[in-house]
Amino acid sequence: MCASMLELKRIHAGYGEFRVLHDVNMHVDKGEIVALIGPNGAGKTTTLRTVLGMTTLYEGKVSFKGEDITKVPTHKRVEKGIAMVPEGRGIFTPLTVYENLLAGAYTKRAEEKLQDSLEFVFTLFPRLKERRNQIAGTLSGGEAQMLAIARALMSRPELLLLDEPSLGLAPKIVLEVFDVIKRLREEGVTILIVEQHVKNSLETADRAYVMETGRIVLEGEARSLLKDERLKKAYLVI
Ligand SMILES: Nc1ncnc2c1ncn2[C@@H]1O[C@H](COP(=O)(O)OP(=O)(O)OP(=O)(O)O)[C@@H](O)[C@H]1O
Ligand SMILES: [Mg+2]
Repeated sequence: MCASMLELKRIHAGYGEFRVLHDVNMHVDKGEIVALIGPNGAGKTTTLRTVLGMTTLYEGKVSFKGEDITKVPTHKRVEKGIAMVPEGRGIFTPLTVYENLLAGAYTKRAEEKLQDSLEFVFTLFPRLKERRNQIAGTLSGGEAQMLAIARALMSRPELLLLDEPSLGLAPKIVLEVFDVIKRLREEGVTILIVEQHVKNSLETADRAYVMETGRIVLEGEARSLLKDERLKKAYLVI
């Protein structure tokens, strides 16, 4: 039997009294790239935050590698192997590239693998190696996004949650980000990605979920969703 890497079962979640997600069911299998798409305010970021236990959960179950982690606090979920690159990147701008990477390796498991992880991210992003002593706040948009991904990788996640990694980037850099995502999968990282670039993300992902007002309204193989008339016609311009 092969349990999903991540499973969200009948999730109802939000912030305090404010309910955002209604009966959300999703799963991400080992080695998959799964995209979560939908309009602004649909609840995509809330879904990722729920995976890490950063929202109010009213009902439902979150499982990671077959283990029920619904009641596990956020930092323990990170230790178990889940990492997130938040919307807006979340790097420490006054610190150097190198210091940002160290900050990403704060779990015990990650500390032990520090040298190996640095080598891993510097091989993935040679530009960051060149710029290791540069202040993060002076990086270009593309470089800052690479740093945000590299920092998340420093915790050696098995599951990486990416929240709009290509936001605000030039088209050429967007393609680079998607290239990195494919390379990460080759390195054995399982990925759940939230994106506004619907076409790029459906071309990169194996499967996708479409969310609208806190509910999954469509799901399937990414390639077939690319051809889906409902998607083309609706709010999502492909
Ligand atoms: N911390 C919070 N407290 C209260 N409400 C919140 C909070 N964060 C988000 N919300 C609300 O939850 C709803 C869903 O927000 P969410 O950020 O999940 O949407 P999204 O799909 O990620 O949108 P976008 O594409 O704009 O990033 C919105 O109505 C938003 O205003
Ligand atoms: Mg969002």
